[in-house]
Amino acid sequence: MNIIRQIILCYLNNNSLYIGEKITMTEHMIQTAMLAEKNNSSSNLICSSLLHDYGHFILDNPNKLVNKKEDGKHENIGCEFLKKYFIKDVLGPIQFHVEAKKYLARDKKYYQSLSEASKISLKLQGGIMSNKKAKEFENNVFFENSIKLRKFDDKAKTYGLKIKHINDYKNLLTSKLL
Ligand SMILES: [Fe+2]
Repeated sequence: MNIIRQIILCYLNNNSLYIGEKITMTEHMIQTAMLAEKNNSSSNLICSSLLHDYGHFILDNPNKLVNKKEDGKHENIGCEFLKKYFIKDVLGPIQFHVEAKKYLARDKKYYQSLSEASKISLKLQGGIMSNKKAKEFENNVFFENSIKLRKFDDKAKTYGLKIKHINDYKNLLTSKLL
């Protein structure tokens, strides 16, 4: 099966809820992509947004991991799979969207704005970033887009929102293949 078809089927078949939220993983990722579009992001960043939690499709039960107080490292698992097919500029922000959360959480207001589930996963992911690490992260070529993706990600949890169909992103996905 062609990879785009395989990816689209994952979105169509996934009904598991986004950890601790009321929407499905598929809805969450499509909402993230829609926010990227609304904010006039580059096509690369829209594609990253759409695929950013793909690792959760691969991990068999993300909720169970959180319950067991384990971090499934979904950003690495997603990238390991996606890097066989997609260009680097799409992968970068996916790889670093968890680091971006740890970076942003240094700000109290941001931290308080996180959902309970997100606060728990932050802890499991290693907690708030140190100042030294934050300085290093600012020099990462994907820093800006990772932060943008993270902010879309945090907002993409609206229950009942009318969303696009995954097929609407077929051309975009195809255009970012290696
Ligand atoms: Fe997400």
